[in-house]
Amino acid sequence: MEKTLVILKPSAMGRGIAGEVITRFTNKGLIIAGMKMIQLTDAVLDEHYAHLIERPFFNRIKTSMKALPVIVMCLAGIDAVQVVRTMTGATNGRNAAPGTIRGDFSMSGQENIIHASDSVENAKIELARFFKPDEIFDYTPASMNLLYASDEI
Ligand code: PPS
Repeated sequence: MEKTLVILKPSAMGRGIAGEVITRFTNKGLIIAGMKMIQLTDAVLDEHYAHLIERPFFNRIKTSMKALPVIVMCLAGIDAVQVVRTMTGATNGRNAAPGTIRGDFSMSGQENIIHASDSVENAKIELARFFKPDEIFDYTPASMNLLYASDEI
């Protein structure tokens, strides 16, 4: 099963909507393979947002991401990276389509509720950044035959 990283950002934690967002993923049929609450630090954010270091909002997004503890999740499913990105919606909540998480919960490009890995390659790198191997679980939920056809799994 493909795996991807989701971070429930401080904008989700502080607004009390973390549960609603998690429920969207589990209702869809994504499997929670790992989940924990952590406080992000400058060190991990410098690595996670290294590609944004030249952007004017680099320090601002780091401050925002440290404002409250976050929940990091490993979600598993067929094509999980693309499915989660589609559910996430456009970066800026004001542009994100209704029905997407950012489209339904965010009015901002910074306070946009979740981070989601943007490729299979980056998902592997990002999961290794936030989870130890023994914090990610491979298991088969009882509902598996109701989530997928036998030729899909
Ligand atoms: S995305 O979602 O990664 O495809 O979007 P991208 O444009 O590459 O943005 C990368 C992250 O930067 C955040 N961002 C901003 N923060 C503050 N101010 C502004 N203007 C802004 N624009 C983009 C955006 O929320 C992305 O964060 P992550 O955690 O990667 O979703």
